[in-house]
Amino acid sequence: MLEVSEIHTYYGLSHVLFGVSLSVKPGEIVCLLGRNGAGKSTTMRSIMGLTPPHNGTIRFKGITCTGQKPYLLARMGMGFVPDDRRVFADLTVGENLEIVQRKKRKAGIWNKDSIYDFFPPLRKIDSRRAGFLSGGEQQMLTIGRALMTNPDMLLLDEPTEGLAPLVVQLLEQQIRQLKETGLTVLLAEQNQNIALGLSDRGYVIDNGVIRFGGTIQELMENETIRQKYLCI
Ligand SMILES: Nc1ncnc2c1ncn2[C@@H]1O[C@H](COP(=O)(O)OP(=O)(O)OP(=O)(O)O)[C@@H](O)[C@H]1O
Ligand SMILES: [Mg+2]
Repeated sequence: MLEVSEIHTYYGLSHVLFGVSLSVKPGEIVCLLGRNGAGKSTTMRSIMGLTPPHNGTIRFKGITCTGQKPYLLARMGMGFVPDDRRVFADLTVGENLEIVQRKKRKAGIWNKDSIYDFFPPLRKIDSRRAGFLSGGEQQMLTIGRALMTNPDMLLLDEPTEGLAPLVVQLLEQQIRQLKETGLTVLLAEQNQNIALGLSDRGYVIDNGVIRFGGTIQELMENETIRQKYLCI
């Protein structure tokens, strides 16, 4: 589904990713783990075309799409939930979803109603302005908005960061449900408990370099990697 090979990404002159490679197969949940500043978001942004890599290649569904514009990637079936949970603050929850529906990429299971079935707390606040939502509600809305495009793959950047334990639990359950619909997910996380519980495979990034790639079982057994590069 996704193949990232040897990408190097810069912010201005600052070299941030050093030959990052990873792959995600159809239907998998793959996590990208790493501490603060390790390069998780930059990897996501590189894939989504927001900070295109200088070197290396990215292939999505067999098509080379390195440096492609974000809206074209979205049209190809890539959904992105950035870490900032940005919503249209002056629009209501319902309007935030409808605005995506109008330029929807293709037919599929997701529409406003099925998003509300999926995240029941959102239905109750359909007409509330999105600027007044809690962190958890905002996160459900940003995920819902990405789903409205009926993507084949979802990039989720630290969806549970800073949220209350109950909300984290709900999101965890719902991400597992997404896998059951056949959606492919790349999940960036600092919180290894959540990521390891959800994922099929994982990568560990540190200082812009991939230090580990393997199954969750292998990662659990690799004390050295976990102690050196992850917050335990
Ligand atoms: N817009 C930017 N301009 C310059 N440097 C940046 C920018 N955004 C990130 N960086 C730097 O790039 C490196 C990787 O940051 P990135 O945001 O990808 O890490 P991260 O793993 O997502 O961290 P976090 O867990 O805090 O979200 C860091 O050293 C960071 O300071
Ligand atoms: Mg980040």
